[in-house]
Amino acid sequence: ALRCYLSVLKAEAKRNLAASAEITVGLVPTMGALHAGHLSLMQRARQENDIVAVSIFVNPLQFGPTEDYQQYPRQLESDRQLCEQAGVDIIFAPTAEDLGIGERVKGDKGEGGDKGDKGEGGDKGDKGVITNYQLPITNYQLTQIIPPEEMTSVLCGESRPGHFQGVATIVTKLLNIVQPSRAYFGQKDGQQLAIIRRLVRDLSLPVEIVGCPTVREASGLAMSSRNQYLTPEQRERASYIYRGLQHAQAAFIAGKRDRQTLLTTVEQVLALAKGVAVEYLELVHPDTLRPVNRVEEAGTIAVAARVGTTRLIDNIILRDR
Ligand code: PAJ
Repeated sequence: ALRCYLSVLKAEAKRNLAASAEITVGLVPTMGALHAGHLSLMQRARQENDIVAVSIFVNPLQFGPTEDYQQYPRQLESDRQLCEQAGVDIIFAPTAEDLGIGERVKGDKGEGGDKGDKGEGGDKGDKGVITNYQLPITNYQLTQIIPPEEMTSVLCGESRPGHFQGVATIVTKLLNIVQPSRAYFGQKDGQQLAIIRRLVRDLSLPVEIVGCPTVREASGLAMSSRNQYLTPEQRERASYIYRGLQHAQAAFIAGKRDRQTLLTTVEQVLALAKGVAVEYLELVHPDTLRPVNRVEEAGTIAVAARVGTTRLIDNIILRDR
């Protein structure tokens, strides 16, 4: 049905263009609970393409067994309105079944949207909500995309085994289903972006990956669907993460290039924020994700921290202009 609708939209777009013109499709893959960060990706896609598609799918393949798959915010109706305002042509909100992944938990009746399905979170009748799949389903017998281990086992991969394989698999499926000319991803998830760029290159997928800058709240806190979990006080503490990264950027601009100096700068700021438990703080190459001892042409400082039980990530790219 999606392909059918896409071809109708393409035919329509074609009528307004020269016969030889290529109709371009921009895809913004998301897990919903859309915010200004997602919106910036949609706006960029709208500027650059004839047709814009947004996918909304809380992907069970990328959540670990103790992670927040069930609690993850699901709000398809408000997401739909935001997409409409952003001029999005197509929302693709499949179920796990539509995508042919996962294994139903025995004895559980139906998927999200069924009355009485107690695990269901979010809007009633939200067909995108699947709660009755066994987690982790990363060991479910499914052909998976396994990006290079050196990229998936570092940074977030260390505490989230299987996560980037789940991301790579779902993104490949979405690219194959929608077949966009361009796909848009945020620098906020810098490791994800680097892995997807690598995947597209290694598999010669016919799509252009467009990386977009991180959108932040006024406090500097990177926008995230998970910010909903934070209390006002935790939000204030969480804003020290970006403050730390900014201090390191200032040090970089002032000529500091070595790992120790740059990371210590971030640590010193984070030490001022009570209740921010750093999981990792690293300086890596933005493309290869390999550790960097001295920034030559470019480096990324990446950080993951827990504020209360909420895990937050952020990063900053250091580059000579
Ligand atoms: P999700 O967390 O919903 O994010 C969807 C896209 O929005 C990602 O490319 C992410 O980097 C981008 N994004 C999130 N917060 C942003 C911000 N503050 N500024 C700019 N961009 C931001 O990332 C995923 O979903 C999933 O892993 C997905 C790629 C959809 C695969 O399931």
